[in-house]
Amino acid sequence: MSKKLFIKTYGCQMNVYDSNRMADVLKPHGYDAVDSPESADLVILNTCHIREKAAEKVYSEVGRLRQLKDARKTDTGEDMTIAIAGCVGQAEGPEMMRRAPAIDLVLGPQTYHRLPDMLREVDDRRLKGQRPRVLDTDFPVESKFDFLPEEQGPQGPAAFLTVQEGCDKFCTFCVVPYTRGAEFSRPVRDILTEARRLSAAGVRDITLLGQNVNAYHGDDLNGGTASLGSLIRRLGDIDGIARIRYTTSHPRDMDAELIAAHRDVPQCMPYLHLPVQSGSDRILDAMNRRHTADLYRRIIDDLRAARPDIALSSDFIVGFPGETDADFEDTMRLVRDVAYAQAYSFKYSPRPGTPAADMEVQVDETVKTERLAALQALLNTQQKAFNDASVGRVFDVLFERRGKRARQLVGRSPYLQAVHVDVTRGDYTLDGMGASPYTENSDNGLMGTLVPVRITSAGPNSLEGELTGLPS
Ligand code: SAH
Ligand code: SF4
Ligand code: F3S
Repeated sequence: MSKKLFIKTYGCQMNVYDSNRMADVLKPHGYDAVDSPESADLVILNTCHIREKAAEKVYSEVGRLRQLKDARKTDTGEDMTIAIAGCVGQAEGPEMMRRAPAIDLVLGPQTYHRLPDMLREVDDRRLKGQRPRVLDTDFPVESKFDFLPEEQGPQGPAAFLTVQEGCDKFCTFCVVPYTRGAEFSRPVRDILTEARRLSAAGVRDITLLGQNVNAYHGDDLNGGTASLGSLIRRLGDIDGIARIRYTTSHPRDMDAELIAAHRDVPQCMPYLHLPVQSGSDRILDAMNRRHTADLYRRIIDDLRAARPDIALSSDFIVGFPGETDADFEDTMRLVRDVAYAQAYSFKYSPRPGTPAADMEVQVDETVKTERLAALQALLNTQQKAFNDASVGRVFDVLFERRGKRARQLVGRSPYLQAVHVDVTRGDYTLDGMGASPYTENSDNGLMGTLVPVRITSAGPNSLEGELTGLPS
């Protein structure tokens, strides 16, 4: 009998990937994914623990789900199983079960290949009249990747592919080494196989994922160990993969081979998320980032020498314990020097169990708020300037979906900017190209293809453009 599965995903792209793979694991067991929790037999919240409010959101979501769960039991006699997966589950499993009795199952990011067994245990306990309360947050010796079924087919022309997991860096503010466990790299062979399947299913743009993706060191095809740079070279040989990206990188692992891949592999996109967190050496040291602001500047210089059109994005934390006005000014100066295309910035949030949470000189909330506002104003100006500078350029755009307006398709530029295109306007309208004539209810063969588009206008978060040629 078919059962309904609803998954809600919080946090980073790795959780997005994991959610898709959990659906893959459950599919052969009769679970079909649905897009609302109302009539679901199983609801999985795939959670994030990175900042405080993330966990609070999970608790309030469980509160809402409990009402659905109770109503379903009263109305139909059926159970709704509520499962917490991901990093909050890993970090706070037992506490969550105590605090929210509606939760039946808690699992971590490294155990979801065992979901069918866990669900069987939930059912067994129910049959015996017991409260389910199943918890599996091990860091198993086996790798879940060796047990996952083939992916069921991607959702669109851009897909994530996890190549590395976990983190051994232990930045003093961060929970990831505790929630995801030690660094692990998948073998090159498995990654190439997955990438070929994605390509055959129509994927053109692959983002390689890892908490520390450029620390990748997987078994190579003929013995030895492959770096991320050499993995990217091999992926560049796969037909159909037109774009290769990777995230998230640590500055210390930005080695020469990887920088050379940006120069030599045409599919390697000229856009890199390279978080620096702070521009102050004192704070970088207290964060245990193990590099200076100048080393970061030098890496950016090397990247720009290898690939002059490369654009950068980053993460920043303001108000790390002990951060002074002068430290913050160092961050602002670094941002001015680098000029980012896009960035994320956060107020420091003390996380239980991490060294920085116990540091004595915590920064005042109002100071954090002021610094965040100043930094975000600067970053927004830079993002707008980057978008403005795109006007007049011709980008290949990978069309991913229909827009809100009629005749409009939306795709991504090499820099991940959303580009809106009216396919019946411009010098190369579809009708004029001898391609299939425009009709309201088809995508005219453009969806999932790369098409040259001239950018005609820019907003803070997206671009508009017109077709200048046929799909390549
Ligand atoms: N592996 C990545 C980051 C993963 S977490 C790296 O090394 O850069 C994503 C981002 O969340 C981090 O880059 C950081 O900016 C932010 N972050 C992590 N812990 C945080 C905390 N305790 N408070 C505020 N922001 C935090
Ligand atoms: Fe967290 Fe640092 Fe590891 Fe990134 S490198 S996941 S910030 S501990
Ligand atoms: Fe969050 Fe875990 Fe990702 S804490 S950012 S979901 S690794």
